[in-house]
Amino acid sequence: MKIIVIGSKGILGSAVAKALGAHGHEVVGASRTGDVKVDLEDRASVERLFASVKDIDAVISCAGEAAFKPLLALTDADYDLCIRSKMMGQVWLARIAVDHVKDGGSITLTTGILAQKPMPGGAAISLINSGLEGFVRAAALEMPRGLRVNAVSPPWIKETMVKLGMDPGPGLSADDCAKAYVAAVLGKHQGTILDATALAAGA
Ligand SMILES: NC(=O)c1ccc[n+]([C@@H]2O[C@H](COP(=O)([O-])OP(=O)(O)OC[C@H]3O[C@@H](n4cnc5c(N)ncnc54)[C@H](OP(=O)(O)O)[C@@H]3O)[C@@H](O)[C@H]2O)c1
Repeated sequence: MKIIVIGSKGILGSAVAKALGAHGHEVVGASRTGDVKVDLEDRASVERLFASVKDIDAVISCAGEAAFKPLLALTDADYDLCIRSKMMGQVWLARIAVDHVKDGGSITLTTGILAQKPMPGGAAISLINSGLEGFVRAAALEMPRGLRVNAVSPPWIKETMVKLGMDPGPGLSADDCAKAYVAAVLGKHQGTILDATALAAGA
């Protein structure tokens, strides 16, 4: 399959690209600073991506920015970033991808554990992750041409926890999390929020 991975240089995206490559798929990595450029906040750049990369079987987003901050420190700009980048960036990606991905192909977005398990600092991210999950479940009911749309909900990733100075013990490695993205592309899921922790444990 020919698969676009947006955010392919990031912690999750690089693991996803590696896992798909190991399964023999052709991965086209894209991001704001990658060789193939796209900015989820810029609809025209998403259109340009699909105009330049043809015959796509699947699109995966491991991208989108969000603000993790105490509730009382969150600013209007923080909420705006979350909504504009991670939430509407991925919604627009899905809306545009529907016109370009091959019949029977798939679109996989990224939400996150904070939709199900809130924690201090996560209010803005819980908001958009929950919104994305609602979008995926409903959009799946109206996918044309046999297309599928799903989202992976990663837990805290060990590599990220190390970067943030947190104990990585309870986290999941990016490689283990990547298994959920591979399952979303290769499986038959439709409108599913894939629990990366459960899938990595073999559920
Ligand atoms: N890591 C975790 O613990 C964790 C847990 C739950 C959910 N998530 C979610 O998983 C996703 C990926 O997380 P990550 O930890 O892998 O992040 P990351 O290491 O920061 O990587 C994200 C990648 O996305 C690209 N990107 C960011 N904004 C973009 C945009 N507007 N358009 C196109 N590309 C963009 C960046 O590359 P450029 O700078 O080149 O654009 C970056 O390489 C995020 O949505 C995050 O909220 C992560």
